Amino acid sequence: MLTVRNLAKSYGRVKVLSDVSFHLNKGEFIAIFGSSGVGKTTLLNIVAMYDRPDEGEVVFDGINIVNASEDILERIRVAKVGFAHQSTYMIELLTLSENVALPLFLAGFSKGEREKRVTQLLEEVGLEDKAKNKPSQLSLGQRKRACIARALVADPRCILIDEPTANLDAANKQRILALLTRKQAEGAGIIVATHDPMVTKHAKVLELTDGRLAPLETTGGTRRPR
Ligand SMILES: Nc1ncnc2c1ncn2[C@@H]1O[C@H](COP(=O)(O)OP(=O)(O)OP(=O)(O)O)[C@@H](O)[C@H]1O
Ligand SMILES: [Mg+2]
Repeated sequence: MLTVRNLAKSYGRVKVLSDVSFHLNKGEFIAIFGSSGVGKTTLLNIVAMYDRPDEGEVVFDGINIVNASEDILERIRVAKVGFAHQSTYMIELLTLSENVALPLFLAGFSKGEREKRVTQLLEEVGLEDKAKNKPSQLSLGQRKRACIARALVADPRCILIDEPTANLDAANKQRILALLTRKQAEGAGIIVATHDPMVTKHAKVLELTDGRLAPLETTGGTRRPR
């Protein structure tokens, strides 16, 4: 579904990604693990077509998106990708349910289908009683769950979520993880960036260090993130 090859990205003289390669298959759940500031968000933003790399390829169903036009990127984003950025960006003038419905508008879903899906997703993330609230009236954890609902509402084949459990209590973490593992079972490919061991135990863990990605394993067996 998605192949990343030899990705490099610097901010000025600071090289954040030096040589990142990996592959995401259908029904696979990958966690990009690593300490704060190591480049997880930088990598996810590039895969989500939110930023461009300096070097390398990101191939989505056979199309290298790195040099693709905005029109092509827009088509791929709408049809295939659900993205929740680490900063919980939402349109502050719209209600929560209107924000969650945005991907469905862009993809041309009917009003009835939009209402059905938004109601279901808001229930699944535990925000049904906040549907008519504005984003500014939500807590950080509620905003995070709302952004995850918006990323999943159109049933994308590729789900990209930066820090899915940030600001969440244990019960809500479980709720989000149950939702993600169900999407995985339904065939979605999922990439998250995380520090959270509760998340990494459900995923294939790739550790980002010194601008490179490596499986979090040793020859003696699987080493678990601390
Ligand atoms: N727009 C930018 N301009 C300059 N430097 C940046 C920019 N964005 C990120 N950086 C730097 O790139 C590095 C990687 O940042 P990134 O946000 O990808 O880290 P992260 O692994 O997601 O961290 P966290 O776990 O805290 O979210 C950091 O050193 C950061 O300061
Ligand atoms: Mg980050």
